Amino acid sequence: SKTPLRVAVTGAAGQIGYALLFRIASGEMLGKDQPVILQLLDLPQAQKALTGVMMELDDCAFPLLAGMIATDDPNVAFKDADFALLVGARPRGPGMERKDLLTENAKIFTVQGAAIGQNASPNCKILVVGNPCNTNAYIAMKTAAKAGGRVPAKNFTAMLRLDHNRALSQLSAKIGRPVSSFKTMTVWGNHSPTMYADYRFATSNGDSVAKLVNDQEWNAKTFLPTVGKRGAAIIEARGLSSAASAANAAIDHMRDWHLGSNGDWVTMGVPSDGSYGIPEGLVFGFPCICENGEYTIVKGLEIDEFSKPYVAKTLAELEEERAGVADLL
Ligand code: NAI
Repeated sequence: SKTPLRVAVTGAAGQIGYALLFRIASGEMLGKDQPVILQLLDLPQAQKALTGVMMELDDCAFPLLAGMIATDDPNVAFKDADFALLVGARPRGPGMERKDLLTENAKIFTVQGAAIGQNASPNCKILVVGNPCNTNAYIAMKTAAKAGGRVPAKNFTAMLRLDHNRALSQLSAKIGRPVSSFKTMTVWGNHSPTMYADYRFATSNGDSVAKLVNDQEWNAKTFLPTVGKRGAAIIEARGLSSAASAANAAIDHMRDWHLGSNGDWVTMGVPSDGSYGIPEGLVFGFPCICENGEYTIVKGLEIDEFSKPYVAKTLAELEEERAGVADLL
């Protein structure tokens, strides 16, 4: 049987954690023949609740769960980690400005980035879910490099997959075809309402989705705002932010990265290699193909006149976020 892989999860006692850990332990993320060891990080005050989650994990008697630990020390949580899902973050409190949210989270992700750089497996795959996830991933990437550089910069990724999945579900409803019929969808940019969900290249059973929709007004006035503000709509309806769908997107992201996307495109927030004029290093949502445990950015797509302002807007927001944390790095 296979050697267990170590999966670190931060914010493990939170609501996404509760929707995520059981699926990782059941083999939905890394494969039904792949044992896992869970290394769970949360704040000191959350350790008791985390113990409860671990009791439930025990009670599932998952055949693939080869071990688990709970800790409030990032150096322990990331020790030899093969995968790290950085979910825990400081939520936006009442009266808190966007700038405060950035700085509060920058503190968390500098510490965790350093701990990853010093302790994780050299090929650790990192997914940042905690918001603002693109910039948090950028911070972790930068500090990990400074702290020892065991893990390559390209392994620091941010979660745009929820936006990708939300876009698929809206398109499926619009044209009346199942989500499983869709291929080569993508979302560009920041995980925020500025993201640009782009179905110009998408197909459904081989037919052009753009032709099937054939409605640019719906694209601009209904589709993009619906996908962009879906998080707020969930909070409004549920009284809590998206958790199960966020956990599901995290599973999708890591599974495809590890096991491959079978030629299809998946949206990942990854450090730019300069493609599409996005400044190198900025963590940006791109169409990616995953194969042999590596992702590659899909190159050479046209950014047409309709798309240019959207890409420019989400890029400007990310550059502003980067400038906002520059003095901390
Ligand atoms: P939650 O508040 O239920 O749980 C967060 C957990 O993180 C808590 O247990 C808290 O104690 C812990 N935590 C806080 N700071 C920590 C630190 N420094 N180290 C370790 N643990 C820490 O929040 P929820 O709903 O689980 O969401 C987590 C994050 O995911 C939020 O930032 C949220 O905005 C983000 N999110 C991102 C999405 C995406 O698509 N990228 C989608 C949905 C949520």
